[in-house]
Amino acid sequence: MVGAVRAKRKIPIIVMTYPNDLFMVPLLSFYQEGFVFKDFEKGFKDGLPGRVMRLGIDVLGNVVILKFDRDTKIREKKKIAMEFLDSHKSVRTVLEKTERFSGRLRTQDTRWLAGEKTKEALYKENGCEFRLNVDTCYFSPRLAEERKDIASKVKKKEEVLVMFSGVGPFPIVIGKLSRCKKVVGVELGRDCHKYALINVKRNKLQNVELYQGDVRRVIKKGGLNLKGTLVPLRFDRIVMARPNLQDSFLDVAFSVSKKGTMIHYHGFYNEADKDEMLGMIKEEAKKARKKIKIVRVKKAGDIGAYKFRYRVDIKVI
Ligand SMILES: C[S@@+](CC[C@H](N)C(=O)[O-])C[C@H]1O[C@@H](n2cnc3c(N)ncnc32)[C@H](O)[C@@H]1O
Repeated sequence: MVGAVRAKRKIPIIVMTYPNDLFMVPLLSFYQEGFVFKDFEKGFKDGLPGRVMRLGIDVLGNVVILKFDRDTKIREKKKIAMEFLDSHKSVRTVLEKTERFSGRLRTQDTRWLAGEKTKEALYKENGCEFRLNVDTCYFSPRLAEERKDIASKVKKKEEVLVMFSGVGPFPIVIGKLSRCKKVVGVELGRDCHKYALINVKRNKLQNVELYQGDVRRVIKKGGLNLKGTLVPLRFDRIVMARPNLQDSFLDVAFSVSKKGTMIHYHGFYNEADKDEMLGMIKEEAKKARKKIKIVRVKKAGDIGAYKFRYRVDIKVI
């Protein structure tokens, strides 16, 4: 774990980041601005003066979202926010995350701290651009590698379904980086869907189709329910970057799968409960009368102490 200590201050603040390589980017420029890096554990043992402050950092292009410890004073928050603005020319707005992702739409609450007063971000990853409102749309820059990884698996002429498509990051990265025939995205949130349509245009893609609505309504056994008309379609690949909710939605995915379909399922579990997730997947397959093979289980991100976003690659056989 890494910490940064402000040089030449009487009472330095030690900034300790959550363990995620993305956080290194802003911290590196803190360093250039006069922060001294210390191995956090070692620095602590050495008896460094100062107060420990944990800081979560999400960089979304022009917008940075900081997550502070609960007892952080507003004066300190504003100061760190101003330092971000000064040291990152591309950052125009600094927000504070005041509420974690919640509800069906997985939205968060943020509060303005410094810079331009906007909640709209323009973010770039994997050669694609995304516009979104950080309060009304779920978006995680930490899934960038996951999107690239899935896109790299998509074969020529595949038809891909992305359930829970949000502002379009999975459909757009797959549409851009692979040679698929088409990607279909389904998203419940109206604002997310509005941005997803803008983002498809922005990235000049012809192979991405997006539908707004509950996946349980838009996807019907054996196809898509488009305003009451069933369009038969079974997909080669189904991406389930799910909301962290009880419903597994696997029955919906199985209903539009065929022999050979690969399902990329995201599940949120403690490491100790991983087998419970695999048992649930096998049970759902049995109920749907599908034979499956679990091809791979990988950690696609951490969401808390010992809790992970797992990706399970399920092949229908
Ligand atoms: C964890 S987010 C993933 C968004 C996107 N895949 C991404 O990576 O940015 C989950 C998304 O699922 C949407 N959602 C939740 N329940 C849904 C449902 N029943 N049908 C369609 N979308 C749903 C939420 O609005 C949210 O945008």
